[in-house]
Amino acid sequence: MTVASIDDLGDLRGKRVLVRSDLNVPLDGDKITDDGRIRASVPTIRALSHKGARVVVTAHLGRPKGEPDPRYSLGPVAGRLSELLGAPVAFATDLVGESAQATVDGLQDGQVALLENVRFDARETSKDDAERGALADELAAFADAFVSDGFGAVHRKHASVYDVARRLPHAAGGLVLAEVDVLRRLTEDPERPYAVVLGGAKVSDKLGVIENLLGKADMLLIGGGMVFTFLAAQGHEIGKSLLEADQIETVKGYLAQAGDRIVLPVDVVAATAVSGDADHDVVSVDSIPADRLGLDIGPESARLFADRLAGARTIFWNGPMGVSEIPAFAEGTRAVADALTKVDGLSVVGGGDSAAAVRSLGFAEDAFGHISTGGGASLEYLEGKTLPGIAVLED
Ligand code: 3PG
Ligand code: MG
Repeated sequence: MTVASIDDLGDLRGKRVLVRSDLNVPLDGDKITDDGRIRASVPTIRALSHKGARVVVTAHLGRPKGEPDPRYSLGPVAGRLSELLGAPVAFATDLVGESAQATVDGLQDGQVALLENVRFDARETSKDDAERGALADELAAFADAFVSDGFGAVHRKHASVYDVARRLPHAAGGLVLAEVDVLRRLTEDPERPYAVVLGGAKVSDKLGVIENLLGKADMLLIGGGMVFTFLAAQGHEIGKSLLEADQIETVKGYLAQAGDRIVLPVDVVAATAVSGDADHDVVSVDSIPADRLGLDIGPESARLFADRLAGARTIFWNGPMGVSEIPAFAEGTRAVADALTKVDGLSVVGGGDSAAAVRSLGFAEDAFGHISTGGGASLEYLEGKTLPGIAVLED
């Protein structure tokens, strides 16, 4: 990738640098339940601060509807960012309004500000180039240079990701460079066997990546809610499990094409409801009761998956195997995470949800080769799509 790094931006002392970070962390009320993305964003912000830049961070949280919504305020994130940086973070209570202007104007060399949620402005995500451009103009007016470090959002053609880069001297931050480096190792010449584990709720979100990986990976292990569409395509009764009926034909095509390179569970944990208190049992995929839904892969499947992964030299994993935030349905995800920690080779955990899941299950981050901060972004990269927020840095 021929993109500049922050060292290429020259002497930054006294310069205002706008940084796009991905600070989209899970919240419970105003409590941050997993701060992984904030921690991943600190090194670039700190490096710019140490270079004497006046650092203006912009980021999104959740999917507010293009107007201020206190539930999605970055306020709690500003506090945590400040703790992790070990320095104050001036928080602007708007994005490009009076508070933002005053906050940016008040920065001294080396100081850091965070602007309120960029998605409080509908222009951020607009499909209209001129609308996004107008917001990008206002953001660019706060800065002398732009650093793209929000890897989790680089697949979005948004004003703060894409359009600002066209208006300012720009560089990729260390997080974006590190993420792209790992993804390139997965796509260019992965050490084989190369295994991919996919989970998560919807197969329709993963069609592109499955199609692309069927030609590249040696095995594709599937779990999570999406697996029931595969089981249905094989003719299994799946009870009340999640089903995307309109994808059955497509999935039949994958199964026919892939043969035994697609590995499916042989048993599942089936429950009467999505609740840790609900009745639940391990059942064979041949005997899922009509009144139950599958919420995790079963123990025999966990052993099967671990066994297949033990022989791999490269593993990419995206998406929990079950409803892993409920302990009764977390064992499949735990087994896959554990298998990744044991691989002799490169193991990559892709994405916000899977990353949060391995941390909440108590795995040490350094037990994995790489934990990506971007789920959608890494999947789109593996699909072979152009990521607008990366492509724009190449100019
Ligand atoms: C994510 O959570 O995957 C990234 O922060 C991007 O968020 P988005 O999917 O709402 O664009
Ligand atoms: Mg996402």
